Amino acid sequence: MPERPFTIALSGKGGTGKTTVSSLLIRSFIDMGQTPVLAVDADPNANLHEALGVRVHETLGSMREEAFTRHIPPGMNRHDYVRFRFRQALVEAEGFDLVAMGRPEGNGCYCFANDLLSECMLQLERDYRFVVIDTEAGMEHISRGTIGKPDMLLVVSDPGARSLRTILRIREIATQLGLGPKQIHVVFNRYKSVAAPVDIGNEGPARVIVRDLAEKILNLADKQRANQKDDC
Ligand SMILES: Nc1ncnc2c1ncn2[C@@H]1O[C@H](COP(=O)(O)OP(=O)(O)OP(=O)(O)O)[C@@H](O)[C@H]1O
Ligand SMILES: [Mg+2]
Repeated sequence: MPERPFTIALSGKGGTGKTTVSSLLIRSFIDMGQTPVLAVDADPNANLHEALGVRVHETLGSMREEAFTRHIPPGMNRHDYVRFRFRQALVEAEGFDLVAMGRPEGNGCYCFANDLLSECMLQLERDYRFVVIDTEAGMEHISRGTIGKPDMLLVVSDPGARSLRTILRIREIATQLGLGPKQIHVVFNRYKSVAAPVDIGNEGPARVIVRDLAEKILNLADKQRANQKDDC
């Protein structure tokens, strides 16, 4: 049986570095040979693709209406059609695929895109080693449970009081969702002023630190996978 991917969601106050850390984490997993990785951009103002250097042509939000209202091509049922469109929305790159959830439905709900994503994920032939979900600022995704229950929640924070308070609120909501204390971690970012350009190049401090973080996550994921095997 293929192994389930280890899912990591990144959350936190606006501008704390969720997208930056997500992209560095994805790059680290790729460098460590932990491929393929699925990058999920769950921010309606999608920009994870830019951080990863790929283009997005379509989001799950944009295909939502169409997949359910349009005439389905002959010889295809709606399920096949949705799967086919999902594949088109999936950006394939070296070591990772990326899917952008796009804008929510009219009433601000991500249910459709999320259900679709979960269904299509299950259908995907390739099994991912890691899924990294970059969420929008705030707690929308967590409070609505739209990112499901990740294996690990990384709350990205800067040293500001508001950001630190956000950690506590996110932890509270995540705990209500059933995440255990060992699944919720804080990533402190931008603890030095970034007024001057900060190097996030190849050996820049942020990249080196996130690589170290990726190794720790890999250890945890391996332990979890081993436990799952024992349970079978
Ligand atoms: N460790 C870092 N070193 C240097 N620059 C950083 C670092 N972390 C974030 N930045 C910069 O700070 C800005 C905001 O980062 P980023 O977009 O990753 O935050 P975000 O939490 O995803 O924001 P949003 O809430 O708008 O989605 C970007 O210009 C990014 O390049
Ligand atoms: Mg972002």
